[in-house]
Amino acid sequence: MIIMVTRIALIGFGVVGQGFTKILLEQKESLKTQHGFEYEVVAISDTMKGSVYDENGLDLNKLLEIVEETGEINSYPGGIKGWDSLKTINETNSDLIVEVAWTDLTTGEPAISHVKAAINCNKHCVMTNKGPIALAVNELEALAKDKGVQIRYEGTVMSGTPALNLAMLTLAGSGIYKIQGIINGTTNYILSEMEKGLGYDEALKQAQDLGYAEADPTADVGGYDALGKIVILANVVLGANLKKDDPPCEGITKITLDDVNSALEEGFRWKLIASAELHDDGSVEASVAPKKVPLSHPLANVMGPTNSLTFSTKYVDDVTIIGPGAGKEATGFSVLIDVLDIHRLTSYK
Ligand code: HSE
Repeated sequence: MIIMVTRIALIGFGVVGQGFTKILLEQKESLKTQHGFEYEVVAISDTMKGSVYDENGLDLNKLLEIVEETGEINSYPGGIKGWDSLKTINETNSDLIVEVAWTDLTTGEPAISHVKAAINCNKHCVMTNKGPIALAVNELEALAKDKGVQIRYEGTVMSGTPALNLAMLTLAGSGIYKIQGIINGTTNYILSEMEKGLGYDEALKQAQDLGYAEADPTADVGGYDALGKIVILANVVLGANLKKDDPPCEGITKITLDDVNSALEEGFRWKLIASAELHDDGSVEASVAPKKVPLSHPLANVMGPTNSLTFSTKYVDDVTIIGPGAGKEATGFSVLIDVLDIHRLTSYK
């Protein structure tokens, strides 16, 4: 039997890249024995932390140790240093690119260019970066199809809780017509902590320290991160063609401790709710807004960084998935879901 080793290049080595690397290391043996999956990470390129390439594979334990100690990877012994993201994508011997650089929901860059470069040099691409999918999913899917490579983006919505796979694979043909829920971990964490008496600023700082928030947390608290995700769900699951700025969007910045407490006294909780609905005429309406949810409602009891999405379907009524929506390991794991999916698709012919 010929064993194919997947050669991976990571573009970005922040919270998600390091989370994925840790899981790869911990699961190395079971990935091989249970899933026939063998890998080498041959390159890492990160704008802030540096880059290293070794065509024979990098020592991941050492890399994690070095980045923990020094905050960068330039002191890794050996390998070729200094390649930027595009050179890493184009010129390394990798066959799968993991795009986990920072998210920019306004331009989608540099992530869109990374994904296009990967596809154009016939490499599969897995991303947790919401920019390319919220802004250009149809274009990227068409390009990938043309080149015969796979793109996957499970972690763009609900991190490693497999909401997209549930909707696109398991519930395929179920007639999903509405999607609603809590899809930003940072804001749900902040609202939950405020209920315990913490001020907004302190709660946000904790969410940043815990690795839930975006590099620029205004995307979270302003609702734009949830907006990007509901646009992804509307376009990918409901077949819409929404632009990122089409749906109305409001975040949680105006919600005060008093609002949180008085809602509780009335039997409600403030939650940032995202929804998308397919109408009979084929149009899709989406929105993101804080809503006072009755305590008896299931969404009212989704707390902390946990997310929840309900898919309303024609044949199986409402199907709800609840799980982590952010965090180092949860999002790192989402990359593994996609990498294994591509492995299954491309190795069992
Ligand atoms: N900042 C995002 C959140 C991370 O808080 O949900 C996961 O997309």
